[in-house]
Amino acid sequence: MKRQILATASALILAASSNIAIAGGDAAAGKAKAASCAGCHGAQGISAMPLYPNLAGQKEAYLVKQLKAFKDKSRKDPTMNAMVAPLSDADMANIAAYYAGMK
Ligand code: HEC
Repeated sequence: MKRQILATASALILAASSNIAIAGGDAAAGKAKAASCAGCHGAQGISAMPLYPNLAGQKEAYLVKQLKAFKDKSRKDPTMNAMVAPLSDADMANIAAYYAGMK
């Protein structure tokens, strides 16, 4: 009985953690990649400048969409087009998870 409960619990934990992996990026990896973003968007994702948007708590899917749009230049902003140029799809997903998770 005990063993069965344990097996069920670990199966649930496995299922939950793989859901997280599917649902979005890795916020810890995103934090490392976002060091260069903090100068404009703020260390806590809240910008000090009127023309630099806040990113903290923004929707993850929206952030991914905007980063990809800057990368393919369908959204034009010289600064952001340059900032995202070196980022991979995984980097963008991770950065989005990082900012989305900020309060
Ligand atoms: C030199 C300043 C600067 C740096 C550094 C910078 N950004 Fe930006 N970012 C901006 C500005 C300015 C805008 C607004 C662009 C516009 O008006 O379309 C912006 C817009 C964005 C947006 C869109 C927000 C929205 O609400 O639509 C995202 C997402 C973003 N930046 C992410 C990042 C990430 C991730 C990094 C680091 C890889 C980064 N930025 C680095 C200045 C900067």
